[in-house]
Amino acid sequence: MSSPETANSGKATKLKKLQAVKGMNDVLPQEGLHWEHMETTLRDWLSSYGYRMIKTPVLEDTALFRRGIGEVTDIVEKEMFSFIDRLNGDELTLRPEFTAGIARATIEHNLTYASPQRVYAMGPVFRHERPQRGRYRQFNQLDVEALGFEGPDLDAEMMVMLSRLWENLGLTGVRLEINCLGEASERLAHRQALISYFEQHQDLLDEDAKRRLHSNPLRILDTKNPAMQAMVNSAPRLSEFLGEASKAHYEGVKQLLSDRGVQFNENARLVRGLDYYNLTVFEWITDMLGSQGTICGGGRYDGLIEILGGKPTPAIGFAIGLERLLELYLETIKPEVSPDLDVYVVYQGEGTSRRAFSLAEELRDAGLTVVLHGGGGGFKSQMKKADQSGAMMAVILGEDELSNGTASVKPLREEGKQLVVPQETLAEAIFELLYGEGELS
Ligand code: HAM
Repeated sequence: MSSPETANSGKATKLKKLQAVKGMNDVLPQEGLHWEHMETTLRDWLSSYGYRMIKTPVLEDTALFRRGIGEVTDIVEKEMFSFIDRLNGDELTLRPEFTAGIARATIEHNLTYASPQRVYAMGPVFRHERPQRGRYRQFNQLDVEALGFEGPDLDAEMMVMLSRLWENLGLTGVRLEINCLGEASERLAHRQALISYFEQHQDLLDEDAKRRLHSNPLRILDTKNPAMQAMVNSAPRLSEFLGEASKAHYEGVKQLLSDRGVQFNENARLVRGLDYYNLTVFEWITDMLGSQGTICGGGRYDGLIEILGGKPTPAIGFAIGLERLLELYLETIKPEVSPDLDVYVVYQGEGTSRRAFSLAEELRDAGLTVVLHGGGGGFKSQMKKADQSGAMMAVILGEDELSNGTASVKPLREEGKQLVVPQETLAEAIFELLYGEGELS
């Protein structure tokens, strides 16, 4: 019987060529080094602000995202990888973002019962978008959430913290845009004013705008249609509908940013694509990555936890698109990263492989990072591999060394003669070469 994968009417069965799913990328080892470096920098930075790791499942109930992100958003309407679990009929979705899942976990485990929490998560998220540079169907986010804080100090701390990260990474030209979305009632009043304004200008609306007039009038503000620009520019602004408390919150955020010298641009058009936001929203944008230049976005979502069934819990967070951050970092810094490897062990001759195996373990016992050559080959090709590995030095075990209990050590990254050292003191000698002051005699 032939499976659909191998079905073929011809004699030879042709197997389907297996490839990664469209829009989902492999990270290969050389690039993996950069990922490791970036993740270490991120974790150090997060812990310096008291953030702790949280992990939530990649799969959640579809209802969580519908309710959390909002039914009338691009993500929920057309970008979710949703399916029915054929084993039990559950409706599941691969997370398109972290926030809803973290809010769900906060409620389920009563996480903010005793005190507010600063948490972060890192990992893949999934959106069925049209792939292009900087836009993928599986991508990685660093997601950071402060749960149970009212702000505005936390709002400002997040942006100050991000500006410190760009500085730590050596990135320049990342600009901050901020806006205040007010509270739901203020947005509702603005929305109604927008609808009546657009109704008065029906003759200028294109088909798209007419369709959105009652379902999502805010989106009309994003129109690219030149014929509508002037009309849209004079539409009522949300800022005119903000109450005293919202205004005070926004002023508080801006004051703290200014105190720390963090520059920002107020962008009344910044609304973000998820429904849970209120008050402060922000994005960090670069011009160096083409059209997908937003490397970080976030904001306050004081109502989300309650919407999902928890107690009212003010909260704020952001997510960084890690593929975009890494691309920007590599383009700006062009870093030379080599693996953190002390020793590459090569061996040649009768009986040497067994001893080399143990010798490598003994060097690791002593705390060195060691790769033991694998895959055979002559001495020359082994030394070439040692060089390519990025190791600081090669340890060589030939028949002579084996018979007299020594090993040769050859520095690979700087000038220096090859030494012959007793195996019992090999680790010490390597440490001396790596970190010692004087020459080893
Ligand atoms: P978001 O703006 O949808 O926010 O995504 C955050 C970041 O993820 C974007 O700024 C971008 O760098 C990256 N990103 C988004 N879509 C793609 C894609 N298709 N390919 C590559 N990178 C992408 C959120 O997800 C919110 N949960 C952030 C948040 C956390 N708000 C509060 N807490």
